[in-house]
Amino acid sequence: MTAQLNPRGDVAVLVPAAGAGVRLGPGAPKALRPLAGEPLLVHAVRRIAAAPSVHTVVVAAPAADVDSVQAMLAPVAPVIVVPGGAERQASVAAALAAVPAGPEIVLVHDAARALTPPALIESVAAAVRSGHDAVIPVLPVVDTIKEVGAGELVLATADRSALRAVQTPQGFRRAVLTAAHATAGDPLTDDAGLVEKQGVPVVCVPGSEYALKVTRPFDLALAEHLLSAGQAG
Ligand code: C5P
Repeated sequence: MTAQLNPRGDVAVLVPAAGAGVRLGPGAPKALRPLAGEPLLVHAVRRIAAAPSVHTVVVAAPAADVDSVQAMLAPVAPVIVVPGGAERQASVAAALAAVPAGPEIVLVHDAARALTPPALIESVAAAVRSGHDAVIPVLPVVDTIKEVGAGELVLATADRSALRAVQTPQGFRRAVLTAAHATAGDPLTDDAGLVEKQGVPVVCVPGSEYALKVTRPFDLALAEHLLSAGQAG
């Protein structure tokens, strides 16, 4: 079966969606939890498919749910579904291995960022296309961030003006991401971290409030509100 969106597109989007979602409370794997009556993953894939540069989407699903996720997404967009791994990094590596020849830009996008606007997907891809090897969408940090140690004792206060909150999609030249995963060590929480370890410059572009990661019950309530208020596309 062919799983292409735009055959002239130059972007593959990898969607790690194999997490348990423990912080959301007991229930189905996070990507399959309902948001306004549809799984988070359906919302995410619908927005990815609406980005015109996207050639291929590869979803890393919980191993037990590969067939049901394939069936669930078939009416939304043509996608490749692979079993994810125990860590996010392993899920991304499994999805990367399934990208067919063609796309030279690879975006990695959390299923949990279900309301990410297609325009953000396009702007990250455009920054890679313009010559950057690695691109991350970021927002300024509004809270003061402190490093704490044992006993919740404060160790240090970071300079907030130099901090950014990092979102997905993170975009890479395909060869750069492939090389980073081939030599990956301990699992990291994002892919730009792997690429940084290779000494590759990572550039920031403006993120979007709508690309919030649905992680805790409050995030789910906020996402429901944004959708019902017609504020999320
Ligand atoms: O756990 P965290 O919030 O960092 O997860 C971010 C994304 O990575 C989620 O979309 C989740 O489904 C995915 N993930 C995965 N495989 C894992 C753990 C997380 O695909 N083993």
